Amino acid sequence: MRSIDRCHRPPGRFILDSRYLMWYEKGLSFSSGCTMTVTTYGIDFGTTNSAIAFMDTHRSIVVPVGKNGRKMIRSELFFSRDDDAIYVGDAAFDEYLASEKWGRFIQSIKSVLPSRLFTSTRIGTTEYEAEDLIALILEFLKKKADGVTGRNVKKVVLGRPVTFAGDGNNEQLAEQRLRTAAEYAGFDEIAFQFEPIAAAMAYEQTLASEKLVLVADLGGGTSDFSLIRLGPKRKHLKNRAPDVLATAGVGMAGDALDSAIMSSNFRDYFGAHVQYENWPGQWLSIPSSVFIDLCHKGRVIYLYNEGVQDQLRDIIRTADDPLAVSRLLRLVENNLGHQVYETIESGKKELSNHDFTQIQFAKEGLELRLDLSRSQFNDIIHGTVSHIEHGVDALLRSAGVAVSDIDTVYMTGGTSLVPRLQALMQTKFPFSALEISEDSFLSVVNGLALCGPTR
Ligand SMILES: Nc1ncnc2c1ncn2[C@@H]1O[C@H](COP(=O)(O)OP(=O)(O)OP(=O)(O)O)[C@@H](O)[C@H]1O
Ligand SMILES: [Mg+2]
Repeated sequence: MRSIDRCHRPPGRFILDSRYLMWYEKGLSFSSGCTMTVTTYGIDFGTTNSAIAFMDTHRSIVVPVGKNGRKMIRSELFFSRDDDAIYVGDAAFDEYLASEKWGRFIQSIKSVLPSRLFTSTRIGTTEYEAEDLIALILEFLKKKADGVTGRNVKKVVLGRPVTFAGDGNNEQLAEQRLRTAAEYAGFDEIAFQFEPIAAAMAYEQTLASEKLVLVADLGGGTSDFSLIRLGPKRKHLKNRAPDVLATAGVGMAGDALDSAIMSSNFRDYFGAHVQYENWPGQWLSIPSSVFIDLCHKGRVIYLYNEGVQDQLRDIIRTADDPLAVSRLLRLVENNLGHQVYETIESGKKELSNHDFTQIQFAKEGLELRLDLSRSQFNDIIHGTVSHIEHGVDALLRSAGVAVSDIDTVYMTGGTSLVPRLQALMQTKFPFSALEISEDSFLSVVNGLALCGPTR
């Protein structure tokens, strides 16, 4: 087993979010509420957010690991060129904004798990495999939780989607990479639980009577479903397998909604329409792979390489719209893709509570501006919504139950807050109660803690 300390880490300081250490110390007093010896953690390593929890007698406790006492961190990393440090979680995003181009920012790393195309990425002089990158996030969570429990906990129940998002759909590879990352982070007993089953276990704690529940966990990278019988008498049963009627999942969720906004509004701004003279008299389009990467939030990382930059510099010389290509080059050179997506994502979130939003981004000569109404957004995301609907249909087919038999549809995950998706579930399940989780970002991690052994 290779420990994280032996992975190819660049020389220099290794900073685990030291700017939040003050808060972390405060978190220690939190352990006084913990009355039993903790042996197992539940970790929800999400495409967008990650969290860690443990059981304290009969309830799960989520460790406040994020900025300002938040119970989750952004699943992000920043490798700073200025001081050679690696920033994890919320600090990664702050440093990325502060340092701008002086470093490499990585997000949505979960999306590369099933992809054989992604083997490693070079950062400075070091080659990082997906496992190394993910281990940094898991290790961060473990250290924070160990600080609270006062133990070096070695067992973990890791959430996993029913189907991993990304290219290749290699489920085995994805799970193995996640397992290896957990080993690098210091765990030696690793179990997996489907995220929509974990969310169901958390929801079950709130039930006063037995129900057949469809759980829809709509996150950043994946939409996962379970159809499961839940109830106060069932929650103590050792074997819950007979209660799970079906699971299903699709590799599309919130990131795909952000990508749809980028694709439908900003492709041409970045030169998708451009032709360039490759050879006297021979005109070509910019390789479509560049725009596939640009318009998939989880793939923007593939653009940040010297090869793409050289290619774009070459293309600008003969392009029929050099300005558009230079915008794309500026985005790639200055590592701005994630910041553009951050702005898009904020606009998307605003549309969950308002009928209208303005997406505006101005930096390094880039000026993006979009007025977007909720109904325009609903049109743009039509394809993603249909894809998510296919996931629900697959669940129903696999379970073989009538829609009218389902008592409750329970929606959780950040993307469950999108009104169009709530409307989809309401329309598909007219006989069921619709419940939106009050704890959309933590139901999975709470459930994972509940799933673990207590000894
Ligand atoms: N108010 C909101 N309206 C719409 N979308 C939102 C809102 N808040 C968060 N989101 C979206 O929810 C997603 C993150 O949700 P969540 O934390 O549940 O995902 P995750 O667990 O990290 O991802 P996954 O489970 O797919 O690996 C992001 O796409 C984010 O943009
Ligand atoms: Mg999730």
